[in-house]
Amino acid sequence: MGGPRTPMVAGNWKMFTTSGEGAALIGNIQDVVSDVWSRVDVVVCPPFTGLKAASTIIELDHLRIGLGAQDVHWESEGAFTGAIAPRMLVELRCDYCIAGHSERREFFGETNETVNRKVHALFASGITPITCCGESLALYEAGKTEEFVRTQIREGLAGLTPEQAAALIVAYEPIWAIGTGHTPTPEKANDVARMIRATIGAMYGPPAAQAARVLYGGSVKPENAAMFFSEPDIDGALVGGAALKADTFSDIVHAAS
Ligand code: PGA
Repeated sequence: MGGPRTPMVAGNWKMFTTSGEGAALIGNIQDVVSDVWSRVDVVVCPPFTGLKAASTIIELDHLRIGLGAQDVHWESEGAFTGAIAPRMLVELRCDYCIAGHSERREFFGETNETVNRKVHALFASGITPITCCGESLALYEAGKTEEFVRTQIREGLAGLTPEQAAALIVAYEPIWAIGTGHTPTPEKANDVARMIRATIGAMYGPPAAQAARVLYGGSVKPENAAMFFSEPDIDGALVGGAALKADTFSDIVHAAS
């Protein structure tokens, strides 16, 4: 993986792929993105059940594809039926883990406080969190985007060391843009990305703000990816639907290279 502010394109496969389907998808992705591995950090985030197969393929074929989980519990073990601990992700050689995706917040009751616990637990285990933030349509229409996202950042990313803050990956994903085909203009997305970077700077200092990566997510497609990537504070994308096909994912990865 590259150094600070290397562009990143991460595929969030959500609850769409079986282990076998995921293995096939990685094979197809490998064929079409290997020419840009030195310039873009490519990451895939399968469901938990697909991590083992993905990890095995990545290792055996020496792929420079980062592996991420979609969620984690903050405790290292315990009576938490259905949950997965950070050390279980370490065992599967996960490099990354999404924390606080809006679907987790909406359907599974995640709060800025639980996101913060997850971020700390992940860093403590050597896994880099990809922390998600973003406003609802109602907040967007009320002009409250920056205020809301700033609070998500301040609370969700509280209490880190400056070194951890410098390693942060934050995905700005307006909820109303996820899976809808609607997006903010690249300029508006960049305004929020710049505010996220400034907030990290206010919390942890300018070096952390300069090094942290801010991704845009929400209906990123081959047709619009380059416009987002040309913005100065947007360092890549977290991609849902378009990450489920090797050709569309590849087009987005190439737009970031
Ligand atoms: P989408 O999802 O690309 O399908 O809009 C993005 C996400 O939820 O991370």
